[in-house]
Amino acid sequence: MHRNMRTTHDVMTLLDDLFAPEAHRWTADSASWWDDFYGDRSKPVPFFVDKPDESLVSYADRELITPGRALDLGCGPGRNTLALASLGFDVDAIDLSPAAIAWAEERAQVSGIEARFHCGDAFVLTSGEVGGAGGAELAGPYDLIHDSGCFHHLPPHRRISYLALLDRCLRPGGHFALTCFAAGEGGMGSELPDAELYRQGSLGGGLAYTSEELRDIFSVSGLTEIELRRMRDEAPGSPVFGESFLWTALFRKAPRP
Ligand SMILES: C[S@@+](CC[C@H](N)C(=O)[O-])C[C@H]1O[C@@H](n2cnc3c(N)ncnc32)[C@H](O)[C@@H]1O
Repeated sequence: MHRNMRTTHDVMTLLDDLFAPEAHRWTADSASWWDDFYGDRSKPVPFFVDKPDESLVSYADRELITPGRALDLGCGPGRNTLALASLGFDVDAIDLSPAAIAWAEERAQVSGIEARFHCGDAFVLTSGEVGGAGGAELAGPYDLIHDSGCFHHLPPHRRISYLALLDRCLRPGGHFALTCFAAGEGGMGSELPDAELYRQGSLGGGLAYTSEELRDIFSVSGLTEIELRRMRDEAPGSPVFGESFLWTALFRKAPRP
């Protein structure tokens, strides 16, 4: 069948396919790319360390965020999930990769810290359909939605799905904490314009954002900036994770009028 496009989902899937083989970094079809990535735990990947983002710890220290229900999107091996749980948050964490979830569960067991880990596509699991993949419980509302390193792997059209997720799952007055690739000097990731990414059929390993772009994108969901800065570089011996090629940002959703 050649004329099969009827829904927004069909459009999203078609656009995802333009980025094949990279599409497996954010679609449920092929969690195996991330499984391979997590297969060798001794690789010198910065975020394989079992330490929370310095920014997350700093938000909590300054009481910019306080315990409540939290969702960790693209949690990987769970370093920030477990930090949130130890700060008193009731945490759901989602990742596409069974290998990441297994690693996170091992870390939870070793540390004795409890969090609920869910394996699957965050956009599907949080869709709120009763009887659907995640059931209604992952639809929130959450007091904090946290993402370190997932958003920048999404292609431009999936920002629409991402903003919809924030809209439906974040409680009015709740916080959104993001860590992602920074454009500009000392940054990381592709700085090509959105349209050029589609022409090249590649995300270049992840998208770099300017601070203005992040403010623009998230203001669509009614989020306002609390803090947006480069992450602090942390020394290897530090108890927290920090790399200055990343932005780290905290936004707040407008409270219900
Ligand atoms: C760069 S890693 C970051 C892992 C973790 N947040 C950390 O900082 O240690 C990005 C993660 O996002 C996950 N991911 C990407 N797209 C996803 C989706 N649609 N739903 C759930 N997880 C996703 C990947 O499986 C991967 O583990």
